[in-house]
Amino acid sequence: MTLIPELTILQPADKEQIDLPRTSEEELAVGKKRLYIESYGCQMNFADSEIVAAVMRNAGFATTSSAEDADLIFLNTCAIRDNAEQKVRNRLKHLTGLKRQKPELLVGMLGCMAERLKTKLLEEEKVVDIVAGPDAYRDIPKLVEEAESGQKAVNVFLSREETYADISPIRLNSNGVTAFVSIMRGCDNMCSFCVVPFTRGRERSRDPHSIVREAQDLFDRGYREVTLLGQNVDSYKWEDTPPAPPTRGGVADAGNPPLVGGAGSVNFAQLLERVAQIHPDLRVRFSTSHPKDITDDVLHTMARYDNICKYIHLPAQSGNSRVLKLMNRTYDRPWYIEKINSIRRILGDDCGISTDMISGFCTETEEEHQESLSLMDYVRYDYAYMFAYSERPGTLAAKKYADDIPEDVKKRRLNEIIARQLEHSAARNQRHIGQVQRVLIEGPSKRSDDFLCGRNDQNKMVVFPKGDHQKGQYVNVRVTECTSATLLGEVINS
Ligand code: SAH
Ligand code: SF4
Ligand code: F3S
Repeated sequence: MTLIPELTILQPADKEQIDLPRTSEEELAVGKKRLYIESYGCQMNFADSEIVAAVMRNAGFATTSSAEDADLIFLNTCAIRDNAEQKVRNRLKHLTGLKRQKPELLVGMLGCMAERLKTKLLEEEKVVDIVAGPDAYRDIPKLVEEAESGQKAVNVFLSREETYADISPIRLNSNGVTAFVSIMRGCDNMCSFCVVPFTRGRERSRDPHSIVREAQDLFDRGYREVTLLGQNVDSYKWEDTPPAPPTRGGVADAGNPPLVGGAGSVNFAQLLERVAQIHPDLRVRFSTSHPKDITDDVLHTMARYDNICKYIHLPAQSGNSRVLKLMNRTYDRPWYIEKINSIRRILGDDCGISTDMISGFCTETEEEHQESLSLMDYVRYDYAYMFAYSERPGTLAAKKYADDIPEDVKKRRLNEIIARQLEHSAARNQRHIGQVQRVLIEGPSKRSDDFLCGRNDQNKMVVFPKGDHQKGQYVNVRVTECTSATLLGEVINS
């Protein structure tokens, strides 16, 4: 079997590229200028594109699902690995052809690659008219105006406060059942390999009232699952500002009512609980958990609520303590194993666990690579996102350590990690055979319209014959077969 290098397998969602087609409402937007957005990278970028769509709709644009049809094309980009940037550069080549046929077309680069390269992007890629970083999305209509008048337009300022809390994202390309809700932005962790702190800026948490409102609104509109998103959700922290004192002859500002048990501050466990309390039929997921920050309090909250999915994405990156130190992950192998033991103790063996793994980080020895494999054997992850180390300019690792593992060695180690994960995923899925799983139906299966699909608690895709069931419903499915990626079964009752 040929394994593809830099492969991410068994992904719950396509992390790499998501298009946002227009909604039916916007199809009716005759005469408006049309925007096409293409998103690359992580779920946070996908969520951001929905913010951008909302900002642009307020500015009078409609969205379209076809680049050829658009007056304005935005690529919401990712900078996490070199190949993520190369993908965008190739896409720009195609857009250059499109612009030749349609000179009035404007092309905007948004997101992390835009933030990383700033005005350099304009020099290197002549087709680009607009560059907007992740904290500049409110400014995009103004940037578009500038570009329309023939100037190149740039805003890459990073903010310490921006969370877009008041903007209701436009749910494009939505199945109407599951949605992402951003709860924080940025990252303060400075893992030595990672570009995110430079492209997304300082960590900041979003007002919990706006988060709960957004989740409640989604539920009221028929959505049945929300995924709370942040680079490090366990460091979520909100302090309610005290109400303003009464003015003379006036009335005191009541402020927002306390969200959790009268406390003025809200941590992640409390936020999770509050969102879970919206309705027992609203499932709650979250991502990503940093092993240094996830608390037993979060695990106990998960255990208390049936509607908080028993699935945790807990990226290890490496199984060796020396490499973890070089990566500046601030935990070591025993600490990570202790977190896994806590998950198993509090949530049981059925809780789904996934990881991110990097092969061939600077100076990683063969024995240290073996420790990544042995950690995988210990945990037996349900899924993994696996990558060969890609040096990113400006990061601590790029400054301090030589990228000294040859590409072929990185790839070989990556392939070993992937092969091990395939075994574990298959074994973890096999365990479900014969079990009855509660599944939230997301829509028709990709393979056939006679089948529906949805996820179980552990985030595994389950496919079953359609019967009279519809998306948005919960059904109990008896699992009869599985592959390493999917469970197959039949509904036993709903
Ligand atoms: N905040 C998340 C990770 C976000 S980036 C966390 O801390 O776990 C997603 C994943 O990309 C990382 O977990 C890491 O495995 C991978 N990644 C980040 N930088 C990388 C690099 N320079 N080379 C290869 N993989 C990288
Ligand atoms: Fe990057 Fe580390 Fe922050 Fe994750 S926690 S986004 S890997 S710096
Ligand atoms: Fe990529 Fe930025 Fe996400 S670098 S992984 S899009 S935070």
